[in-house]
This record gives sequence, structure tokens and C-alpha cells, in this order.
Amino acid sequence: MISAPPRARLGPRLRSVLQLCPVEGPVADIGSGHGRLAHELAGRLPAGRVFATEVRPGPVGELRRLLGEATPVTILEGWGLRPLAGLGCRGAVIAGMGGRTIAAILEADPALVAEMAWICLQPMQRVEWLTDWIRRQSDWSVRRTVTMERGHVYHAFRLDRR
Ligand SMILES: C[S@@+](CC[C@H](N)C(=O)[O-])C[C@H]1O[C@@H](n2cnc3c(N)ncnc32)[C@H](O)[C@@H]1O
Repeated sequence: MISAPPRARLGPRLRSVLQLCPVEGPVADIGSGHGRLAHELAGRLPAGRVFATEVRPGPVGELRRLLGEATPVTILEGWGLRPLAGLGCRGAVIAGMGGRTIAAILEADPALVAEMAWICLQPMQRVEWLTDWIRRQSDWSVRRTVTMERGHVYHAFRLDRR
């Protein structure tokens, strides 16, 4: 297990997402931000099995700095699922964005979504945009969890290919 510095520990929201994720890679954390979830995922999988993406050079540089040089996480730049083309990821996590953005990411690249065996989704607001997308899918089984953090309610979804 890779030991995380104390400031990198997960709060209840991201812990609930981590608990939803199967211990199975390769997996990508889309819009990884501070990289805490990717770091924890990497602690459960062999090296080279975790990717973390950010959408622009600035956040990519910050993610690289926070994860440090020795990280086993592969950092990628690009919009939504697009950096995953050709990587053969079995799973993806999209957490900490609005439901509308997450739904747009999933709708934009159906071929990349189709490559996934599982997806974990955690919208910060506008959950209904995401539940609308989920309702239109027939080939996923869906599990939903609800967590409280600092007085806010957070929904998380795990989708598994039927
Ligand atoms: C609030 S942070 C969430 C960080 C972390 N995933 C979490 O749940 O705590 C949202 C991140 O998503 C990134 N982001 C927003 N839109 C994106 C997109 N279309 N593709 C990839 N990353 C995106 C932002 O740059 C930002 O770092």
C-alpha cells in the first residue's frame, strides 16, 4: 500500500467513491484535481494500472506536483474520456464535477464508454442530469450510495456492464 501524507487522506465523499470502485484496473480518474483518489486507487493495484486526467495544462501541472515524481499514477491531459483512447481501461471514475458536465462527458464519447466494464460517478450538483443519462442506458446495472460530508449530501453511482 502506498502511504498517503495526512493532508491527502480522503474525506467521506471520496471514501464512498473509493469503496464503490472494484479493485480492478486499468482504471482512470477523470478530472483528478488533487489526485487523492487516483493515489488511493494506485495503492490497491499493480504499478501502471491507474491513470489520472486533467483537462488543461495548468491543472495537469498541479496534479503532477501534488502526486510527486515517484507516483505510480500515469498523468494524462485532455477533455473527458478522450485521453483514454487506446489505453484499454476497464474502469473510470468521474467525481467532483456537476451532473451536467459528467453527463456531457459520457454522451460525448459513447465508443470509449462502451469499452468500460464499470464506471463510478459522483456528481456534486445537478444529479438529475446524470440520472437522466443513466435511465437511458439499458446495458448497465446501477448501484447508488448517499454520503454526508460537512452537512452536504453526496450521491455516487457504480455502473457495471450487464
Ligand atoms: C472539483 S475538481 C474534483 C477533483 C476530484 N475528482 C474530486 O472529486 O475531488 C473537478 C476537476 O475536474 C476537472 N475537469 C472539469 N471538466 C473536465 C473535463 N471535461 N475533462 C477532464 N477534467 C475536467 C477540473 O479541472 C477539476 O480539476
